[in-house]
Amino acid sequence: MNFFSDDQVNIEILRKRAFNYRWATHEPDVIPLTAADPDFSTAPPIIQAISNYCAAGYFPYGPPKGDLGFRNSIAQWFARKKNAQIFSDLILPVNSAAYGLFICAKAILKEGDNAIIPDPVDFLFRKSIEHAKGIVKTCSLDKKTAQFDVEELRKKIDSKTRAIFLCNPNNPLGKIIQKEHLETIIDIAKEYNLWIVSDEIWSDIFFEKPCISIRSSVLSHYERVLIVSGLSKNFALAGHRVGYVIAPDELTFNQIYQASEHATTAFGISVLAQVIGMTALTQCDDWLKAFQNHLSKMRKLTFEFIEEIPFFKNNFPDATYLAFPQLKNTELNSEEMVAKILKTAHVALIPGGVNWFESQSEGHIRICYSTSEAILTEAFERIKSCTNDLFKK
Ligand SMILES: Cc1ncc(COP(=O)(O)O)c(C=O)c1O
Repeated sequence: MNFFSDDQVNIEILRKRAFNYRWATHEPDVIPLTAADPDFSTAPPIIQAISNYCAAGYFPYGPPKGDLGFRNSIAQWFARKKNAQIFSDLILPVNSAAYGLFICAKAILKEGDNAIIPDPVDFLFRKSIEHAKGIVKTCSLDKKTAQFDVEELRKKIDSKTRAIFLCNPNNPLGKIIQKEHLETIIDIAKEYNLWIVSDEIWSDIFFEKPCISIRSSVLSHYERVLIVSGLSKNFALAGHRVGYVIAPDELTFNQIYQASEHATTAFGISVLAQVIGMTALTQCDDWLKAFQNHLSKMRKLTFEFIEEIPFFKNNFPDATYLAFPQLKNTELNSEEMVAKILKTAHVALIPGGVNWFESQSEGHIRICYSTSEAILTEAFERIKSCTNDLFKK
């Protein structure tokens, strides 16, 4: 069965359920290539596991440090897929990668401390640090490689700097950070005794070459490393809010656990989300492989489309299902271009710009291509047929 054929996208359901700038938030004639959330249903073993778990009808409180089965499955996933040895009892399941970022920032920053984040990067990085009353310092990335400008990075570090945040692969650039650069970051972090917080939520969506986890055994060992990840992107589970944080040692795990406030029961991941997470990581390899194959074709379609548009400059992503072309030959800025495409072509996109992906993202637009070939082709045809109108301010 092809899980990613054109007839597998149920727009009727998506129009009711898919929020966050997607189908349910637009007029019916709009195609949203917006928030990074697939248009496909999740893997069949997950749907089966939900129904099996619910059939018993019991839904008591779960353990505040997370379900052991889920924690074990994350440790095994890292061993199987990422060449990384992780102990289950240092993994805290949380109710999203977004929350994972928030509690990492809270655990390692005091008011007035600062942390360095990449620019461009997803707005959650800034939000999590500011929420912890920390100060955000941005450091420019080379948009072709997602590598920090190392000279700038060193200049930004001062006595109040506590952490360097990484997004690997990078949203919105769609780029994997190469091994040599990860080693450089580890060296700098060691030199200044900084934390590395590595957001690896996109690390299972790659094409030619896999993404190297900061805890991979091919990298030099460094203790002060936190990983944030989740299952929204790889298994189409965003609505279940399933994520986790990996700590390097028991002391740090306890700090993360304190910051999570799970013990109060006011916060925490649902038991069902953990059943789902465990099933995804233990029974859905084939589905993920097929998803990657489909995305590889959609990526090609997206590249070809971008090449045809006179005011888009391609920046070929090697991971994620995001393309992030730069605008050229136009006076429109990112917001204006996105508004114009919505109005003329009825296709919704995400603009670059400081509100979304920090300041270096201005002059770009983001296209999410995790949909069917028919929908993507239709969206691109619509934009192509409006190119003359799109030049005008
Ligand atoms: C880099 C990055 N981190 C975190 C998240 C949030 O993931 P979740 O749905 O688990 O909160 C996203 C979602 O787009 C993301 O791109």
